[in-house]
Amino acid sequence: MKRAIYPGSFDPITVGHIDIIQRVAGLFDELIVLVANSTSKKYLFSIDERKQLITDSLIDPKIKVESYEGLLADYARDHNAHIIVRGIRAVSDFEYEMTMANMNKKLNENLETVTVFADPNLNYISSSIIKEIAKLGGDLTTLTPPNVHEALVKKFNKGNN
Ligand code: COA
Repeated sequence: MKRAIYPGSFDPITVGHIDIIQRVAGLFDELIVLVANSTSKKYLFSIDERKQLITDSLIDPKIKVESYEGLLADYARDHNAHIIVRGIRAVSDFEYEMTMANMNKKLNENLETVTVFADPNLNYISSSIIKEIAKLGGDLTTLTPPNVHEALVKKFNKGNN
């Protein structure tokens, strides 16, 4: 079975991530969207909240949504997955992606990272910019699924800012 992992922080998931997921899902027998943590980031949503927001945004039996707080290379080994999918929005993403791909390969020699270019109409989207727009009451209709928009409004209305 060709199983691939699309890992990310997804704090929160955006239409940019969903575009990548939908474009690559058909290339594999199973795609695991894996909510993981980067030690250098402070998250607005907990790992469980991020996972739930993705689960509620996607309907495709080939796509599984999971979370993991350890090393991606270990998760892939434990789940018999040999492919990591990552999106590249601009040249500025390239160096970071190359470093992660090479480090993941070093940690698990059976892993290959496949990169996909973001849709040029969506390559300006990031989770941080979405959070900033939500915090300032901007329109997110075309940037996030409706459940994510609702969750952001709730977070910021609770004064978590
Ligand atoms: N559409 C919208 N936004 C996109 C995007 C797309 N197609 N592609 C990337 N982004 C944005 C994200 O929204 C995010 O924006 P933000 O920085 O404003 O939050 C940014 O690009 C990068 O996010 P992401 O792709 O989720 O990467 P990350 O750096 O947050 O997370 C992990 C990387 C979680 C996959 C990585 O840290 C990891 O593997 N962690 C597990 C521990 C581990 O193994 N560490 C060693 C790794 S070598």
